[in-house]
Amino acid sequence: MNESHQVLFRKYRPQFFKDVIYQDLAVNSLSNAFKTKKIGHAYIFIGPRGVGKTTIARILAKRLNCERPDGVEPCNQCTSCIEITKGNSNDVLEIDAASNSGVDNVRELRENVKFNAMGGKYRVYILDEVHMLSGAAFNALLKTLEEPPQHVVFILATTEYHKIPETILSRCQDFTFRKVPVSVLQQYIETIAKKENLNYDTEGLFWIAKKGDGSVRDTLSFMEQAVVFTDGNLTGAKLRKMIGYHGIDTFIDFLNDILDSTKSAQIFEKLEHYFQEGVDLIKFIWDFVEFLNSLLLIQDNLAERESINIPQDDIQKIKTQFRTLDKELLIMLSENIFLIHEKLNQMKLRSSYEVKVYLEIQFRKVILEREKPSVSGLLSKISELTKLIQSDINNIQDNTVSIPTKTAAPTPISTPPSTFEKSNSQAMKSNTPIAPAQDMEMLIKEKFSGMEVDPNQFKNI
Ligand SMILES: Nc1ncnc2c1ncn2[C@@H]1O[C@H](COP(=O)(O)OP(=O)(O)OP(=O)(O)O)[C@@H](O)[C@H]1O
Ligand SMILES: [Mg+2]
Ligand SMILES: [Zn+2]
Repeated sequence: MNESHQVLFRKYRPQFFKDVIYQDLAVNSLSNAFKTKKIGHAYIFIGPRGVGKTTIARILAKRLNCERPDGVEPCNQCTSCIEITKGNSNDVLEIDAASNSGVDNVRELRENVKFNAMGGKYRVYILDEVHMLSGAAFNALLKTLEEPPQHVVFILATTEYHKIPETILSRCQDFTFRKVPVSVLQQYIETIAKKENLNYDTEGLFWIAKKGDGSVRDTLSFMEQAVVFTDGNLTGAKLRKMIGYHGIDTFIDFLNDILDSTKSAQIFEKLEHYFQEGVDLIKFIWDFVEFLNSLLLIQDNLAERESINIPQDDIQKIKTQFRTLDKELLIMLSENIFLIHEKLNQMKLRSSYEVKVYLEIQFRKVILEREKPSVSGLLSKISELTKLIQSDINNIQDNTVSIPTKTAAPTPISTPPSTFEKSNSQAMKSNTPIAPAQDMEMLIKEKFSGMEVDPNQFKNI
């Protein structure tokens, strides 16, 4: 980095309304205000951090005082524009309400607004973090907002709408700024990656945008770190390493190990391996919970939603692979593993070794739980068995003259009999025949004794 290095979020702070991304409500309303020459005297910008509040406030201040505006945009070349960009203008005062929150500060400001603008036409006051003002300071501000001098424009900015008194809100035009969606951030940083001549791929940019959590500033700050970490190669593989994410294939494998009892031993091998590698096991578990929840969203066709933590390209892959996975089982797994993560956080274990041991115990429980059939799985199994038993009984009836017959003609068996079926039909043949309904009930009870199934459910089969 050379001396003139400027961090990305400063270097790319938009200087024109047209360069601001995603805040169309504020941009269009302010553009219309210029077109119709109806400039308000008090605005309040409400929204999360790093989404363009200060940026738009400065562009507005510039446009108000610009000597050669171009339509709704400032020229960014005249003395006034240049001074505002550099932060040297006497007509644009940025006040951090967090550190000037007292009533005296606002009184001083009220004295100050009486003066006419020096260079330009307007004096613009940008009050950042305005929710930090004290009650008395808000009251003092209210008086100024009630009768603002013609040459004054107030722009209040806040991340905490609910802390602003209603009296203040009712005197301002309010604009809500929104968190920027991952896909929009991803496109935006692609334009920056091109300008900066960086090497990148879609997945790499996805993880950077994801990390920004809707804030353009945070996204650009993270991109800056990523450029250093990856030496300018913003690829999925490098970014995954940087954020400690294992990648979708790891989680697909891990889930398959849980689902397939012949592979359960691999779970413990993997936990051991990650422990030896120094992987943050608590984060791994959380990422796995998110993965399971994403599977449920994908099954419900809700994969397009913003918070999903899977690059779009991988969604299709998962869709095909887990299409038939039992939903009930998936919910049970998600919940159990979510609770394991919650417990891990509460327990504040002393070492990663303790975390590993705890996980080994818990995953044994998960596997045991998984092996219990789900109610829906159980019901279809019972239905299958009932049909087989029924056809067996019918066969017996065909061969035994003495049984009073209640049932219709026997259903042909198309599949070879299972072990269960064989042993029970032999058992029945050697005993004195009993009434079919009783017989079936007895068999089912015998087979499923000890399982938590409501016997009433059998009636509907
Ligand atoms: N909508 C946007 N379009 C393009 N860049 C943006 C946008 N919002 C923020 N940025 C980038 O993030 C940086 C910080 O933005 P800004 O200071 O406007 O955020 P803010 O909303 O005022 O946040 P805070 O609440 O933390 O003060 C800008 O310099 C710019 O690089
Ligand atoms: Mg700001
Ligand atoms: Zn200008």
